[in-house]
Amino acid sequence: MPQYFGKLPTTDQPWTTIDSVQVVDRGEQTIDFECGISRLSISVLAQNLIRVRMAPRGDFQPRRSWAVTLDDGEWAKVPFDFRETDTTIEIETESLRVCVERQTCRITCFDKAGRSFAQDADVGMGWRLGAVAAWKQIEVDEHFYGFGERTGFLDKLSEVKTNWTMDALDYGSLTDEMYQAIPFFIALRPDLAYGIFFNTTFWSRFDIGAEQPGVLKMETRGSELDYYIIYGPEPAEILHTYTHLTGRMSLPPKWALGYHQCRWSYESESIVYELAQEFRSRQIPCDVIHLDIDYMRGYRVFTWSPKRFPNPAKLIGDLADNGFKTVTIIDPGVKYEPEADYHVFDQGLENDYFVRKADGQLFHGYVWPEKAVFPDFLRSSVRQWWGDLHKSLTDIGVAGIWNDMNEPAIDDRPFGDAGEKIWFPLDVIQGEKGETENVPVSSSATHAEVHNLYGLTMAQSCAEGLRRLLGNERSFVLTRSGFAGVQRWSSVWMGDNQSLWDHLETSLPMLCNMGLSGVAFVGCDIGGFAGNATAELFARWMQVGMLYPLMRGHSAMSTARHEPWVFGDRVEKICREYINLRYQLLPYIYTLFWEAATTGAPILRPLLYHFPNDPKTYTLYDQVLLGSSLMAAPIYRPGVEHRVVYLPAGTWYDWWTNERYTGPIHILAHAPLERMPLYVRAGGIIPMQPVMQYVDERPLDELKLRVFPGTGEYTLYEDDGHTFEYQRKVFATNDYRVFSNEEQTVVEIAARKGNWTPPTREIVVEVVGVGEQSFPDDGTSRSLSYRTID
Ligand code: GLC
Repeated sequence: MPQYFGKLPTTDQPWTTIDSVQVVDRGEQTIDFECGISRLSISVLAQNLIRVRMAPRGDFQPRRSWAVTLDDGEWAKVPFDFRETDTTIEIETESLRVCVERQTCRITCFDKAGRSFAQDADVGMGWRLGAVAAWKQIEVDEHFYGFGERTGFLDKLSEVKTNWTMDALDYGSLTDEMYQAIPFFIALRPDLAYGIFFNTTFWSRFDIGAEQPGVLKMETRGSELDYYIIYGPEPAEILHTYTHLTGRMSLPPKWALGYHQCRWSYESESIVYELAQEFRSRQIPCDVIHLDIDYMRGYRVFTWSPKRFPNPAKLIGDLADNGFKTVTIIDPGVKYEPEADYHVFDQGLENDYFVRKADGQLFHGYVWPEKAVFPDFLRSSVRQWWGDLHKSLTDIGVAGIWNDMNEPAIDDRPFGDAGEKIWFPLDVIQGEKGETENVPVSSSATHAEVHNLYGLTMAQSCAEGLRRLLGNERSFVLTRSGFAGVQRWSSVWMGDNQSLWDHLETSLPMLCNMGLSGVAFVGCDIGGFAGNATAELFARWMQVGMLYPLMRGHSAMSTARHEPWVFGDRVEKICREYINLRYQLLPYIYTLFWEAATTGAPILRPLLYHFPNDPKTYTLYDQVLLGSSLMAAPIYRPGVEHRVVYLPAGTWYDWWTNERYTGPIHILAHAPLERMPLYVRAGGIIPMQPVMQYVDERPLDELKLRVFPGTGEYTLYEDDGHTFEYQRKVFATNDYRVFSNEEQTVVEIAARKGNWTPPTREIVVEVVGVGEQSFPDDGTSRSLSYRTID
């Protein structure tokens, strides 16, 4: 048990389990059960969404919607059948049946074929001092995904996953607490998948059959049990509903999909100018330069170092003229500096915006600026203030904000005093204080309850601030810490990874599990943050990085430089080629962002997402799909030039050679350093654009569709790429279909829909291995045929 729980009143006392059902009361949407002193309630929120709540002592607390965007009453009512028998109470919707046994109060769900899922184990629900728990049966063949930010492989069966945000410095495959805490998972077996969102912000933990094989335990240090069961049957439906519940991302600006370059730190204006120059002269595309903590004056947030960055407005303007956006880091720790005219500290103190301990004293920790105090982002007034502070940055052209150290990290660096270990006191009260007309007292909570929300609420404050400050212009927000629903406010990177092959390997399952936790815009530091990459590792990492929804290279202070050109000509060429490919694929990737924003679908997907009934995909962690068509099987080991690739059922094409395979099959791919094996499903349609040095270098004058013979359909999404006009329906979609027989392949292009007009351009339709046709894009429908046999 981590040290910070020393104070929590948990013990090893036995669990008290729930009593039998004594009284049942059917409401419009909710069935209430009296079980001795306890109360259970089951609500039907959608045909595939059930909420279960249990209050051990019968009194439900008023709940706050920190992660959940829709209150129960806000869901459109769905019809369901309700039946009582001598032994059970049953609730049946269009897609599932929930059965509660009167005697044991055990809950079991069934799909329409009668298969059980999310079934309570012998003991279903219980509590002891300071904790509540539920136990579910793990079915034979069931595998577990999601759980937010997790190292290791894809499937989490037999592991223990704790949800408590933590600066996970030096993390490895056995690390449990990470920067993000997302108490959500998906359980999958052939023909059946379901998800559970454990609705608790307190410390919580999933034990997925580790303590007791075959039993999944979910425990929280809160006072009541509250979870949502989401039926699939496939992961896509689960994520659709889960992101309906916890929210979806808004579209980032298109430039945020380009390549980002970062280092701790590019510590002066001249170094940043040189960096930008290198990218352009070497013709390596790059859109974003990040400035790490050394741009500040003595690590004071919202300041600039007059020595190293004497003229930030000019720097940012010059970078913008050269096609670069600037992103600056912001940490939550505000330098404790009374009477020094530091506006952030002064304003925060004057308005009482910083967290105070239970005794009323300011709470402080030690971070970059030494002694630091922490804004209470749970309060809307503090979020508003902090969001507005970004004005000094946006006024001089900063286009995005990188939120760091917001677990919050306070004790783990060599700047603490006398080796004293400092934890955020769990009894600190956060949130709006006192009851006023506009501020219900229920928004205040102990840090124990809201610790996990610190990063989320900081990111929210930042995103809302940038929204106010930038008007109709989209911005980019990045955060290290977060909780369920973080996708609404920010993109996320996986913190301080290391320049190790293992970390390259784990990056794909990590990002896939984030995607399966509702967070699609994610990335890992390319090249590894800590340590020094070899040339080979760097080349391989850039290939994999091309697939990350957030493609950012970053490296730590006192490591060797990690820019694409520092490893010699051969690696520079590889980096250029793969960054070029990223830019060529931008129409495809941008459409995936739109899908994520409208349906909650991940951008980077494990194969099980599209092949949920193929058990061979259940533990396949080292192949990924970018969208539904493009599959990569990267190399993540030194000296390796061949690897086994699994191609699931269907026809597949090698991206590079057009060679055709019929799955399911295992093949041996040849992958010299220049080559990351890539495949496309038959019927795949991949829209591509010319290479540009940055996203807005010039209007898109050519759009190429790479069509892979077979049967398939695809919808391309486009808009202006940088404003919120798309939210007022100013966008365009284009539907394409392909079908092939022995003699010909036909590509049908429907008339463009929507009210955004692309620039004048040529459309080139290449049927891979057959030939291409082109025409000016006038938005009308066409049917193109390509004869394969003359
Ligand atoms: C943290 C961040 C890292 C950053 C460094 C300095 O370690 O995770 O990305 O470079 O702080 O700000």
